[in-house]
Amino acid sequence: MPRLLSKHAAVPPPPVSADRPSAPGAPGRAPAPDGTHNGVRVRGLSRGFDGRAVLENLDLDIAPGEFVALLGPSGSGKSTLLRAVGGLDGDPDGRIAVPERVATVFQEHRLLPWERVWKNVTLGLGGGLLRERAVAALGEVGLADRADAWPGTLSGGEAQRVALGRALVRTPQLLLLDEPFAALDALTRLKAQQLVERLWEQHRPSVLLVTHDVEEALLLADRAVLLGDRTLSQEFVVDIPRPRPLDHPRFVELRRQLLLGLGVDPDAGTATAQNTDSGKASS
Ligand SMILES: Nc1ncnc2c1ncn2[C@@H]1O[C@H](COP(=O)(O)OP(=O)(O)O)[C@@H](O)[C@H]1O
Ligand SMILES: [Mg+2]
Repeated sequence: MPRLLSKHAAVPPPPVSADRPSAPGAPGRAPAPDGTHNGVRVRGLSRGFDGRAVLENLDLDIAPGEFVALLGPSGSGKSTLLRAVGGLDGDPDGRIAVPERVATVFQEHRLLPWERVWKNVTLGLGGGLLRERAVAALGEVGLADRADAWPGTLSGGEAQRVALGRALVRTPQLLLLDEPFAALDALTRLKAQQLVERLWEQHRPSVLLVTHDVEEALLLADRAVLLGDRTLSQEFVVDIPRPRPLDHPRFVELRRQLLLGLGVDPDAGTATAQNTDSGKASS
């Protein structure tokens, strides 16, 4: 049976599978044999720091295989929410249920400079054939030939792809992405977005992508949610067939609505609210 934590629990209680080991750090929890899960369910999540509320009574659902983008002003609590969902924050109030296997990619690659690329990819993993598994994951992000490289010799885009490979090797049912492309140049970011879309279509994890880039959200997500005033304030279903052309009328309309929701004047392309890092204008 899964280990049920009062605040952060795996759902559903998955049957223990004899031939698939539990994820590291999750003793007693094992994925359903067919890899199914119930997605993400957050209820009444509150989190504050030093007496100041950042998130208050927040609810969020992500269906299995659904791609959700989370946008909001800088400092609104996007990373706080993502950390809580990922179990990386020990102290949130509320109920959070996530699948068994969760992997996170951050804005910085967080690779250890003294370990070769392939070792970084499998760091913390148990089981055998680690190098083979690393090379396979690196192959998925187009970097199998850099398995023996040192992280310091990679470009920014390559390092982020390695970070993505490190997430993939864990075969996540939930992939958490915290502005993973924000530091990349425009062309590299576009390629990384296409890679994430391809990998998502292939492996179908649930995804929570934090981004400040409205177009990125509309290119990738099934649904975009806005964080404002300590809870989710608006949501937009991105009902545009993929691949999504930037000039699709619905894309243009949703871009406009999202920017407005973020306090950005869609026509002027300039922020009308203070402390906003939303939209292409500032990305
Ligand atoms: N560990 C922490 N200790 C104190 N304050 C924090 C901590 N983490 C986040 N905060 C504060 O919570 C607010 C939301 O932060 P964050 O979730 O990083 O925002 P976002 O990702 O939307 O930019 C900010 O005011 C930030 O300073
Ligand atoms: Mg953040």
